[in-house]
Amino acid sequence: MTTLVAAVSENGVIGRNGTLPWRIPEESRLFRRLTWGGTLVVGKKTFESSGFPLPGRRHIVVSRKNEFTLNGNENVFVIGGAEIYRLFWPKINAVYLSLIHAEYDGDVRLPDEIFTLASKKNPKFSLVERRFYAALPVPFTFFRFRRNE
Ligand SMILES: NC(=O)c1ccc[n+]([C@@H]2O[C@H](COP(=O)([O-])OP(=O)(O)OC[C@H]3O[C@@H](n4cnc5c(N)ncnc54)[C@H](OP(=O)(O)O)[C@@H]3O)[C@@H](O)[C@H]2O)c1
Repeated sequence: MTTLVAAVSENGVIGRNGTLPWRIPEESRLFRRLTWGGTLVVGKKTFESSGFPLPGRRHIVVSRKNEFTLNGNENVFVIGGAEIYRLFWPKINAVYLSLIHAEYDGDVRLPDEIFTLASKKNPKFSLVERRFYAALPVPFTFFRFRRNE
């Protein structure tokens, strides 16, 4: 299973100045819970941002300087950033998407075909779960999608 994991603002932003534009501890805890013990596929720029490597998870850092191909049987989380989401999108079987209910300025956006999963029906994906985290200073909705066979 190759699972894409992303958090995105209402205006499509995922990053600013090499880091996340927000600090939402509940969303970070959810990310930690979902990916704990697993293997993360992470872009070089994201890996160089603060907090990496993350504890309790193996990291595969994607760079043009190393050869790396995903073997279809591997169980991995593709955790961004945008360049890496774009690169692995055709291989993604599942998506965990947190839609942050606020707008942020930023310089990196989630590719449109992923961002629109939260707002438009996509015949290639089915919604498996939707959970609203309401009682927070910045609420968010967590979506889980699965690619149709
Ligand atoms: N909100 C979220 O869920 C989330 C998640 C992750 C990241 N982010 C944010 O996203 C931003 C970074 O994203 P980004 O898109 O700028 O960078 P990125 O995807 O993290 O990393 C880009 C790097 O990936 C490598 N790469 C790109 N295409 C490649 C290819 N075809 N083959 C091999 N390697 C390739 C290159 O490394 P080399 O230059 O070494 O070749 C490139 O510099 C940060 O602000 C970060 O905080 C947000």
